[in-house]
Amino acid sequence: MPTTPILSPTRLGPLSLRNRVVKCATYETRARGGLVTDALIDWHREVAAGGVAMTTLAYCAVAAEGRTFADQIVMRPEAAPGLARFAAAMHAEGAKAALQLGHAGWFADPKATGARPVGPSGTFSLHAQRFARALTPADLDRLERDFAAAARIAVGAGFDGLEVHVGHGYLLSQFLSPYNNRRRDEWGGSLENRARFPRRIVRAVRAAAGRDVAIWAKLNMEDGFANGLTVEEGIEVARMLERDGALDALQLTGGHTTKTPMFLMRGASPIDALFAREPHPVRRVVLRFGAKLVMRNYPFEEAFFLPLARRFRAAVRLPLMLLGGVNRQATMEAALGEGFELLALGRALLRQPDLVRRLEAGDFDGTLCNHCNQCVAYVGHEPTTCPLR
Ligand SMILES: Cc1cc2nc3c(=O)[nH]c(=O)nc-3n(C[C@H](O)[C@H](O)[C@H](O)COP(=O)(O)O)c2cc1C
Repeated sequence: MPTTPILSPTRLGPLSLRNRVVKCATYETRARGGLVTDALIDWHREVAAGGVAMTTLAYCAVAAEGRTFADQIVMRPEAAPGLARFAAAMHAEGAKAALQLGHAGWFADPKATGARPVGPSGTFSLHAQRFARALTPADLDRLERDFAAAARIAVGAGFDGLEVHVGHGYLLSQFLSPYNNRRRDEWGGSLENRARFPRRIVRAVRAAAGRDVAIWAKLNMEDGFANGLTVEEGIEVARMLERDGALDALQLTGGHTTKTPMFLMRGASPIDALFAREPHPVRRVVLRFGAKLVMRNYPFEEAFFLPLARRFRAAVRLPLMLLGGVNRQATMEAALGEGFELLALGRALLRQPDLVRRLEAGDFDGTLCNHCNQCVAYVGHEPTTCPLR
């Protein structure tokens, strides 16, 4: 018998999960040429063997133009064999395999993609150091096909869950955000209009994937700055997604990679470590002078999204994954007691991939992660690692 509800099995849509702990997406920097590598599988295998119910393969681009890193997985037929090996390896450890479907839109890196970034509107992206090209209705049709094709590839490869990235200022969250979305057509303006494209994509992913896989959105509750998505709007978007009936759950997040990056993870600033690893001279200048302005500090707090997430819990009936500094057994148990069905953990599992095994053994005394965020500075440069391990 499980000694804590964290270890009790549950269901997520059509899936049976062995416990309540999900490894959320943390970009691994282990793909090569847009394909799965053995190192990528091995890294997730350790997390799966560590007992999580499901692990999430981070940030797979639905189109080559949507990458922020040249080596990032691009969902195309050539990627399918590696993805199938990945899913099989997770299953062999008793874990489910999830895959995050993303597109960076406005802040995709032209040096990685060789293309001008695209976004809801033609605004300047400091990250890409370019003006984005505003997506045309034909582009939106193509992107819908790209998301659907990506979902089919993932399902064909044996993945159990699909996470649609509607957070962190990525393309679909750019549509929601008045900061990025200045459109005057049916895709911009009112919240109903700004939510139209993310909703269309979520429905397309469900139609392509079928009902045998779980699908959820990693959804921004708020962007965390003036002129971004507000929490009231975020709640309304959650209600719209619930009404659409295409999702099995929401994973609740917040923040905007280019505007409020530390809002989404909290803790120490990794700017100095990022600066040390950045080879590109212009980026180094941006990091040295611009980032200090942009990267407002947000001190770490245990379960830092819980106060916002409670408002979503009260507003929708969809199963919710609580994310953000969920680091202690008592926090996890209290969150389950408040009606959050699943716990999504990032840095705590980078630090201790065997966290669930430790819980099982009664040997988990809270995370050893100290939120130094040095792991963030590896992203895109070297295999993402916790340097404290
Ligand atoms: C090293 C690192 C890489 C990340 N990469 C991604 C990513 O690829 N996709 C994503 O949605 N979030 C990414 N995140 C954010 C995490 O998924 C999560 O939202 C955040 O770290 C808060 O959870 P935590 O407090 O449990 O770490 C990343 C976070 C870290 C620390």
